[in-house]
Amino acid sequence: MRVIGIEGSPRKGGNTDTLVERILAGAAEAGAETKVYRLNELNIRGCQACNYCKTHDRCRQEDDMTPIYADLIASDGIVIGTPIYMGYLSAQTILFVNRLYAFFNPGKPSPVPPGKKVALVFSSGSGDEAGYRKMLESFGQILSHLFGVDVKGIVGGGGNNEAGAVKNNQDLLEKAFALGKELAG
Ligand SMILES: Cc1cc2nc3c(=O)[nH]c(=O)nc-3n(C[C@H](O)[C@H](O)[C@H](O)COP(=O)(O)O)c2cc1C
Repeated sequence: MRVIGIEGSPRKGGNTDTLVERILAGAAEAGAETKVYRLNELNIRGCQACNYCKTHDRCRQEDDMTPIYADLIASDGIVIGTPIYMGYLSAQTILFVNRLYAFFNPGKPSPVPPGKKVALVFSSGSGDEAGYRKMLESFGQILSHLFGVDVKGIVGGGGNNEAGAVKNNQDLLEKAFALGKELAG
């Protein structure tokens, strides 16, 4: 059992990072091997729309997505976390998501076996927390539709402008931990 985290905030130890780590800690307690990829620390270019992946089953670009592609195929559970930027996913997260195009070949089976368990994480400063959750729900539906993943839950909240704010939110931390156990179960 392997559960990986894809973390899209530039703030290491910030709210998104903390929640992703909590989920991974829950998964580890349930026996999973875990690893986190902090996208902001990696060299990942945007999709170049060359369509090489449509005839070669892999992305032509060799960058820090290469080991992530392999780990996405190998892992049983995937946690994707993003801060809310301008009402949407952070740029770091969008780069990662766009590169998943390499796994999408209409009419052919995806290299990603279906049935992987997914958890989504968000953190926002203010405002429309319910709207951000809805946005992530539809993002999860797109992932399910494209790759047959099973979205087990979304953990996140607003009022988290301070980098450490979520560390005082015991309820959210507990939800994250429980979701991690479910991913590994
Ligand atoms: C570029 C940028 C855009 C942001 N846009 C929004 C937004 O649209 N709505 C919101 O509620 N918060 C917004 N925020 C605040 C962050 O979502 C918030 O601080 C979040 O908790 C950061 O998560 P982190 O601690 O994981 O980095 C924005 C922050 C930045 C830096």
